[in-house]
Amino acid sequence: MSEPLQTERGRLQIRFRPVADADCGLLYSWLCNPAVAKWWTPPASRNEVVEKYVHRAGENDDFRSYVILLDALPIGYIQSYEDGSETVGIDLFIGEDAYRHQGLGATIIRSFLEDVFGRPAIKRCIVDPSPENTIAISAYQKAGFRRSAQQPDPKTVLMEVEREAE
Ligand SMILES: CC(C)(COP(=O)(O)OP(=O)(O)OC[C@H]1O[C@@H](n2cnc3c(N)ncnc32)[C@H](O)[C@@H]1OP(=O)(O)O)[C@@H](O)C(=O)NCCC(=O)NCCS
Repeated sequence: MSEPLQTERGRLQIRFRPVADADCGLLYSWLCNPAVAKWWTPPASRNEVVEKYVHRAGENDDFRSYVILLDALPIGYIQSYEDGSETVGIDLFIGEDAYRHQGLGATIIRSFLEDVFGRPAIKRCIVDPSPENTIAISAYQKAGFRRSAQQPDPKTVLMEVEREAE
């Protein structure tokens, strides 16, 4: 868990809670928010939210999905997926308008990386934002990600960070 954030509202803590069925409505409303939908494919229905984010079926990777909590307040969503290699991929969004573009992104990502690199098999973490998503790219850079030497897909920017040497 990261150090508490010192804010105007006092010291606040970022936490991650596994997504549950009860989060479905909240996730659906966040995903339909144009500020999020610009970068994430909006779901066609609430059922699709359940299938893609709550009980993902038919995929072989180890997929984990979490609600981002600022103290007790749900403010966004973050996920990780592993394919059995040493690499894990992550994605996130801040769903609450009041908490986007306030400088929280890098802190959330850094905190999640602590959890990800707490998994012994994982040595590398990747993200693949759109080249136009300069805010996400900047937040990932602040959290330690760098552009990969190999860029297999021109529609995305592959970025990576390696586990720090112990
Ligand atoms: C991407 C996201 C998680 C980043 O978190 P955030 O808390 O909003 O980002 P920050 O406030 O820390 O800003 C990151 C950088 O963008 C810059 N930035 C913030 N708001 C900006 C704005 N409106 N215009 C231009 N730059 C802006 C900041 O200056 C900061 O860069 P700097 O620290 O080098 O100055 C969040 O914006 C989000 O959820 N966006 C919608 C979904 C999305 O894009 N998800 C990522 C998919 S890969």
